[in-house]
Order: sequence, then C-alpha cells, then structure tokens
Amino acid sequence: MNIESISKNLSWLPKPVIRFFEKRMKNIPAVQKMVEKENEKLKATLEHSLKPYRGKYDSYGKLPQLGVDRDKILADIQKMHDQEIGTWENGFVSGGIYNGDREHIDFLNKVYALNSQSNPLHSDIFPSATKFEAEIVSMVANMMGQGRTPDGAQIVGCVSSGGTESILLAMKTYRDRAREEKGITAPEMILCDTAHTAFDKASHYFGIKQIRIPMTAEYKVDVDAVKRAINRNTIVIVGSAPTFPHGIIDDIEALSNLALQHGIGFHTDACLGGFIVPFAEKLGYKVPVIDFRLPGVTSMSADTHKYGYAAKGTSVVLYRSEALRHYQYYTTTEWPGGLYFSPTIAGSRPGALSAACWAAMLSIGEDGYLKATKAILDTADYIRKGIQSIPELEIMGDPLWIFAVKSKVDTLNIYEVLDHMSTRKWSLNGLHKPACFHIALTLRHTQPGVADRFINDLKDSVEYVKANPGNTDGLAPVYGLAATLPFRGMVSDILKKYLDVVYEV
Ligand SMILES: Cc1ncc(COP(=O)(O)O)c(C=O)c1O
Repeated sequence: MNIESISKNLSWLPKPVIRFFEKRMKNIPAVQKMVEKENEKLKATLEHSLKPYRGKYDSYGKLPQLGVDRDKILADIQKMHDQEIGTWENGFVSGGIYNGDREHIDFLNKVYALNSQSNPLHSDIFPSATKFEAEIVSMVANMMGQGRTPDGAQIVGCVSSGGTESILLAMKTYRDRAREEKGITAPEMILCDTAHTAFDKASHYFGIKQIRIPMTAEYKVDVDAVKRAINRNTIVIVGSAPTFPHGIIDDIEALSNLALQHGIGFHTDACLGGFIVPFAEKLGYKVPVIDFRLPGVTSMSADTHKYGYAAKGTSVVLYRSEALRHYQYYTTTEWPGGLYFSPTIAGSRPGALSAACWAAMLSIGEDGYLKATKAILDTADYIRKGIQSIPELEIMGDPLWIFAVKSKVDTLNIYEVLDHMSTRKWSLNGLHKPACFHIALTLRHTQPGVADRFINDLKDSVEYVKANPGNTDGLAPVYGLAATLPFRGMVSDILKKYLDVVYEV
C-alpha cells in the first residue's frame, strides 16, 4: 500500500469527504511514515537538480571569519555562470530568458553598474530613478491605447518588481476601493481556472474570495459562467492575454463589457502578452483588442522583464485613472520616522533595475519590438506545423506563440515525453488539469536551428516513449501523482518540502 494506491481508491469521493479523511489520516503513524518515505524519495530526486554544486565549491553556512578574496568570489561565480548559460543561451528553455543576446545583456549590465546604489524611495537623491520610472510607465501606457482612454483620460501606473507584484497591487487596489466606495467587506474576484496563480496569492494575502470559472473547450474563460457569478460582493473580473498554461487570450471585450455594465473593475493580465500583442496587431496579425481602448478595462499588468527584454525584476501595472491608482499607494502621516509614502509593496527598491528596464526599452524602440515579435511569431508558425505533424500530439486551443501540448492517445504518457525531452536538455513546463506541457517561445528559439532541434527532439521523444512506456527516472511519476492525488494538502506539503530543500546549504 502506498499513497498512490490509497488516493486512487478514494478519488471518487467528494472533496469535503477527502479533506476530512486527509486530516484524520495525517495523524496515523503508518501514514506519516508513508508520507515521509515519499518525501525522502522526492528529496533525493530534487537534491540532484537543486544542489549540483555540493562538494564542488566551498560552502558557506556561516559568515567567513575573514572576507574571502574578491578574485576567488568572482572566479567561482564565473564558473557557475559558465555551467548554467548553455541551457538558456542555446534556446532549450521555455520562457524564462526572453532575450538573452550577449550584447544586449552587456549593455544592461553597464546601466545596472552605473545605478547599483540607486533607490527610487529616495527620489531627492536619485531623481534619475524617478525619470526612468515615469517614462517606463508612460511608454507602456502608450502601447496600451495611445496613453489615453478614448474619452481623453490619462492612463497612469507604477513600476513593480514583476508580474506577481503588479497583480497583487491591482487586486489590493480594487479591494480598498470597494471597501471605501461601496462598503464591501467580503470582496470577491471572478477569474478563470487558467488565470495566473498570482491571483491566488492576492486572494490569500488580501482576503479576497476567488470565484474560479472553468475553461471552455477552447481553453478560454466561460463568459456566461462569469456573468452568472457576479454578485454584490464582486469587485473585479480578470481576463488573461494570454494565459500562462495554454497561451490563450480570453474574450477580453466581452468580459470587460460585463464589468462595465455592473460598475466593477476589470483587469487584463497581459504579463505575458503586453509586449507581444500590441506589436502583433501592428504587424497585421488577427489579435483581439486587450487594452484601454475597451471602455471596461480599468487596469492591466504588462511585464517588462518578459517580452520587454529588461533584466529580471520589473513589471508595469496600469490604471484607467489617477483616482484608482490612489488606492494602490501607501502613506503614513503619524510615524516618528517622518512622513512616509511608497507606491508599491517594497519600501526601498532597486533603482538599477528600473534604469536597466528604461535603457532596454529605449535601445530596442518600437522598430526593435516589431522585429522581435515578428521573429517569434514566424518561429511559432514553424513550430506549430512541426508539432501538428506528430500524430500522437495535439496543440491545445489556438494559441499564437505559447504551445501547450497534450497526448491524443491514452497509451502515450505526456509526462514521460517531457522527461525524455529533459534528457535532451530541454527545460519545458509540465502542467496539469489536463496533463500537458508547454513551451513559451522567446527570441532564444528564433536562433538558426533551434526550432528544427525542438521538433526533431519531440518526434524522437514520442517514438522513445511509445517503444519504452514507463521507462523514466525523471519527474513523470511525480507529475502524475501530483495531478491525481486527491489529498491536496499532502501535495501542498510536498511543495513546502521542496522550498525547504532550496534553503538547505
Ligand atoms: C499570465 C501571467 N501572469 C502573471 C505572471 C507572474 O509573473 P512573475 O513571474 O513575473 O511574477 C506570469 C508569469 O509567467 C504569467 O504568465
């Protein structure tokens, strides 16, 4: 008897019953032992990939008594960098590194070095940071509806640390507005199952109930179900452009119209698509409008550190009005430390990242983003045809440049295909509900030979798994178990164990 067999036997039960069983079972010593055994197995698999430098470099669990020589530190960092760069530079990674060109990186590094002490919290000392951030927001606002709404209001926003923070900020903004203007104390957000998990975080952090709506057969949110879910406590509806799992753009127009009719907020999550969709539209691709030209769109998130090609650590959150943005800000007037005001979650912030983001956007310009988008979408067309030529596989929905791939035949385990791709150096994303993996195409995949290598490796992997089903030492069984185990609390505990391993020296 193991966790897998127990869970298979119980999976037909309703969720509350399963949760009841799980709570009871957790206290049974035999079950605890079984869970420990599973955790040890997983830990052994994870340690291999998470801690490859153990025993190969000096390890520092405590401050060294005397400072380590700078040359040695730099040499060690250089060696680790050299070991890691191949995977992403040569285009084996889904998403992750969106530009990766050496000259571009060197340029951003120079800008970072010049600004490494900069902190936008101290705008008196670093007015350059203020200039960079104001201009980043304005440039992105201009991409999302010419910087003004059709009725002439200025689109405003802030620079945050990433997509998750942009989403957290927007959700907090709606919560605070609803409390202040409508007296709503039990706020709810409506979003598709596929909307990014950053919204779960927002729900958890800010006490906003999530109403998750199932996706349709096209992997989009079901608009009628959204309509039915609206009630007096609804503060915001969310649409993705596109979704992380399947790269599908929700019906933003219909959703934002619903929000407008009900006088509630609507957020377009364009963290992934913010720097692709506007340029695809200009290139003549058939893409829907996702931005402030739609009267119901009241906020957006667009990640400069993804397809904006900035260094990691920046994103932009935009609002339809200054009044709405005010609900995001934090001000303190009574603190002995003085008057305090801060626009986002962090206090002190890395001005160097905003400088590098500004420099990335300036140096690339509209022409550069158009060329980059065209290169990615051309590669996507080629890869789409390649995947479609493999009879056992299916692309989910009708995405533009992020392809989720599932198995068309029961006999082919897609996670084993994913494992086999990993043995060929590919770092793709395993997804579930339903079982699939995805590749988010970036400029790295537009390099000569990468698309063909992907298609050939995928064909070979499918053939290998067909000939050797069940033969994997990778994560396929873990994915399979995590997707089907009805004890979600146990899955969550396993993820926490993973994080514990991350922080082991
Ligand atoms: C659609 C979408 N929204 C939000 C996020 C969160 O962004 P980040 O990882 O920068 O916090 C992502 C990340 O991939 C995303 O794809």
